[in-house]
Amino acid sequence: MATAGRFLFRFLMFLSVLPSYADAMYTIGVNYGQLGDNLPPPRRAVELIKSMRIGKVKIYDANPAILGQLANSDIEVCVMLPNEQIVAVANNATLAEMFIRNNISTFYPATPIRTLLVGNEILSGPNQTWPYLVPAMINLHKALRKLRIRKIKVSTPLAMDMLGGPLFPPSNASFRTDIAQTVMKPMLRFLHHTNAPLFVDVYPFFARENDATHISLGFALFEPDAGIYKDVNSLEYHNLLDVQLDAVFAAMERAGFPKIRITISETGWPTREDLDERGASIHNAALYNRRLVKRALSNPPLGTPRRQGELIDTYFFALFNEDLKSGPTTERNWGLLYPNGTHVYDIDLTGYLNESQYKTLPNSPVEVPPGQLKLWCIANPDINATVLGGALSYACGAGSADCEPIQPGQPCFFPNTTLSHASYAFNDYYNRFHKSGGTCVFGGAANLTTNDPSYGSCKFSPTYV
Ligand SMILES: *[C@@H]1O[C@H](CO)[C@@H](O)[C@H](O)[C@H]1NC(C)=O
Ligand SMILES: *[C@@H]1O[C@H](CO)[C@@H](O)[C@H](O)[C@H]1NC(C)=O
Ligand SMILES: *[C@@H]1O[C@H](CO)[C@@H](O)[C@H](O)[C@H]1NC(C)=O
Ligand SMILES: *[C@@H]1O[C@H](CO)[C@@H](O)[C@H](O)[C@H]1NC(C)=O
Ligand SMILES: *[C@@H]1O[C@H](CO)[C@@H](O)[C@H](O)[C@H]1NC(C)=O
Ligand SMILES: *[C@@H]1O[C@H](CO)[C@@H](O)[C@H](O)[C@H]1NC(C)=O
Ligand SMILES: *[C@@H]1O[C@H](CO)[C@@H](O)[C@H](O)[C@H]1NC(C)=O
Ligand SMILES: *[C@@H]1O[C@H](CO)[C@@H](O)[C@H](O)[C@H]1NC(C)=O
Ligand SMILES: *[C@@H]1O[C@H](CO)[C@@H](O)[C@H](O)[C@H]1NC(C)=O
Repeated sequence: MATAGRFLFRFLMFLSVLPSYADAMYTIGVNYGQLGDNLPPPRRAVELIKSMRIGKVKIYDANPAILGQLANSDIEVCVMLPNEQIVAVANNATLAEMFIRNNISTFYPATPIRTLLVGNEILSGPNQTWPYLVPAMINLHKALRKLRIRKIKVSTPLAMDMLGGPLFPPSNASFRTDIAQTVMKPMLRFLHHTNAPLFVDVYPFFARENDATHISLGFALFEPDAGIYKDVNSLEYHNLLDVQLDAVFAAMERAGFPKIRITISETGWPTREDLDERGASIHNAALYNRRLVKRALSNPPLGTPRRQGELIDTYFFALFNEDLKSGPTTERNWGLLYPNGTHVYDIDLTGYLNESQYKTLPNSPVEVPPGQLKLWCIANPDINATVLGGALSYACGAGSADCEPIQPGQPCFFPNTTLSHASYAFNDYYNRFHKSGGTCVFGGAANLTTNDPSYGSCKFSPTYV
């Protein structure tokens, strides 16, 4: 199509979507993840979504049961092409079209699908699929057009590690050099031409956890008295989320794309944590999410210091706590709801209630300053012998813990039990590798404690976090 024609075409398209877009603009989105073995069926989940007056839902596939339940609703839906299918869809336009026919046309337009996301945080993973990301986006976009589906945008959610270098000052941010030219440039060109936003997973919780010495909890939690960060360009920041968003805006501008919008594809705050994590609590999660609801729904839109007044669609993570997610305890505790449908804390996603109108929240545990909390990693007595033995072998083998002290004749040999030996080995591993990302998990066979497990001449080194 000639440029002028394409312009007219896009203009008409804009008019045709305007009414529904305007209605759905001031609503909150939620990520409906399904990594749990105790989650309610889609019918019940969609009832809950409706009862919370959630206006937009993002799922991590194109699950037909969920899309069916969302039919004839005014809940806008974001679906996802799974990571594993990116290469095939990039290489074969017929497959792209089949994906749309099988997974989207079946439900659209009865189910108001508005975005097709290509993969999840692809640029945070192994680089083999990177060259296929933008070609897959292009093929899917063409397939949608071919099938005369005009209201569905194509994008991809990226994590904040798309940026290279430090977060501060945000105006100095740029994309990682390994993706800047090869992936980001063509992607931004595509998003610009199709008038689609960049989807960004933005977690002040993680940015602050990574640098708790310099970033206050209040700055991450939108506390009114948290202080101001002044950028070198003299823009002033009152919260960490704005810093993160403006870093992405700055990187896009530096790459030559000053007009592309951002949609926050994931954000939120966890309610439970392990001892070596910081800031996760019901209290803090409620504050972060309630305040962000107010901000996201403010009319006229707030934007960021760099993009004042710009609307930023926001999808909270997540609808439910998901018990099958691996990693630290926070991973399984991002939900607004428990799997049984009860709220983890009160939150009004319509933005009507003010902070003072909620019931009083439980206090957060008092935070020990970074580097001053002493922890030990010991074996979990409730774990079965097979799992424990496997974890012990791992710790002493590939894990590179020093297991000399638990050999016969050495100070930690007695008591001569797998439980006792595993505690020593897990603690040594954690002590050695915590700084470089080693965790006290061992497939559930290990637990952190603040009680020194040393005995006799067997000494367990504390890890300072
Ligand atoms: C798309 O549909 C095909 C068959 O209709 C199915 O096998 C596949 O799992 C679907 N993809 C997603 C992401 O749901
Ligand atoms: C593309 O995929 C279709 C459907 O699976 C298949 O029939 C066709 O041979 C593929 N084309 C190429 C070039 O691999
Ligand atoms: C992936 O990483 C390897 C090792 O750094 C590099 O040699 C290769 O060129 C990279 N491939 C892409 C597509 O970036
Ligand atoms: C901005 O980024 C460049 C390149 O990453 C770096 O050399 C420079 O020191 C940064 N400037 C500031 C003020 O941090
Ligand atoms: C729902 O689950 C939570 C967490 O397990 C529990 O505290 C709560 O009592 C449950 N509520 C109902 C109504 O079962
Ligand atoms: C919340 O506070 C605002 C500003 O003070 C006020 O206009 C609004 O009516 C309040 N909302 C409710 C539900 O009381
Ligand atoms: C130990 O747990 C594993 C994994 O849950 C299970 O496969 C195995 O059967 C259990 N072994 C015993 C002896 O209970
Ligand atoms: C230590 O425990 C193992 C496994 O139960 C046993 O085979 C071994 O004889 C014990 N050694 C001593 C010195 O008690
Ligand atoms: C130990 O860790 C397991 C798995 O991470 C957890 O389920 C359990 O509650 C923990 N136990 C204690 C005493 O912290």
